[in-house]
Amino acid sequence: MDKTEQKRIGRRRFLKRLGMTIGVCAGVYGDARYVEPYRIEVSRHTAFLPELPLELDGIVIAHLTDMHYGPITPTKTIRDAVGITARENPHLVALTGDFVHGSIDQAVRLAPLLKPLETVPFGVIACLGNHDYPKYSGDGVANALQARAGVRVLRNENVIVAPGLAVAGIEDTMRGKPDTARAFQGVSDRDACIFLTHNPVGVWGATRRSCVALSGHTHGGQVRIPGFPAHRPPGMVGFPLVEGWGTFDRAKLFISRGVGLGGVPFRFFCPPEVAFITLKRGRGAPETATNLVGRGMSNVTRFGKDLIHRRYF
Ligand SMILES: [Fe+2]
Repeated sequence: MDKTEQKRIGRRRFLKRLGMTIGVCAGVYGDARYVEPYRIEVSRHTAFLPELPLELDGIVIAHLTDMHYGPITPTKTIRDAVGITARENPHLVALTGDFVHGSIDQAVRLAPLLKPLETVPFGVIACLGNHDYPKYSGDGVANALQARAGVRVLRNENVIVAPGLAVAGIEDTMRGKPDTARAFQGVSDRDACIFLTHNPVGVWGATRRSCVALSGHTHGGQVRIPGFPAHRPPGMVGFPLVEGWGTFDRAKLFISRGVGLGGVPFRFFCPPEVAFITLKRGRGAPETATNLVGRGMSNVTRFGKDLIHRRYF
């Protein structure tokens, strides 16, 4: 084989590899930009609360978070997530903040999209996230959601949704002034509790109370690279969990990957999530229908049963 022939073969190999690389990059880009942000995954869980009244055994909570309605999140994704939720006829809808991406106007435009949830028997109950405080006030977003979509926004307060079942919610840990003691004021130890905190770190304030805590903020990492730990957003340095269940003393915390997109218009190995949590009277670790759980890439357990987190001072 002469030198010209060798050069030609070398060039052909190079072009082939270049073509493959471009093809893979285009595929990854296309999936992360145009497929995965729309591909909502439904996850199903069972959580146990010993205080749950027998009459409420088996009620279903739909949990949605981090809609980030604004310039990046596709409206279709929000419509689909709300549609999936409404079709499931849950007893209660819990929304854990980051409704918008920083403006009250976005909350005004989001409100009509939440209308299909208006008939949920125990209501739509929420807390605010760090993006819901434009100009450092959560009033505008909270008022828009309450007035226009009937969302009950809990800001260091609680509501008894049925005899023996309380839902408490705190202000965001980064932008608001969270006060867990105030949030649980008047709730008896005999009441079953759901605790809403946008940022998972809020659970540290509720570890002495038997409760199911629901949160978001992490987006599950949003863009996950196999073999690498998930990105953690600000405000949760050192927190041991980015998605799924963890047990924090008496509190059982669930972190959802959320619905929308924050920062970049991509999701990779981390699809949007709508979670349905069935509450059962009893003790024990939360359970997840494993065949429905995402991609199994979490660098921490998705289940509470083997992992007890405690904070030592
Ligand atoms: Fe968020």
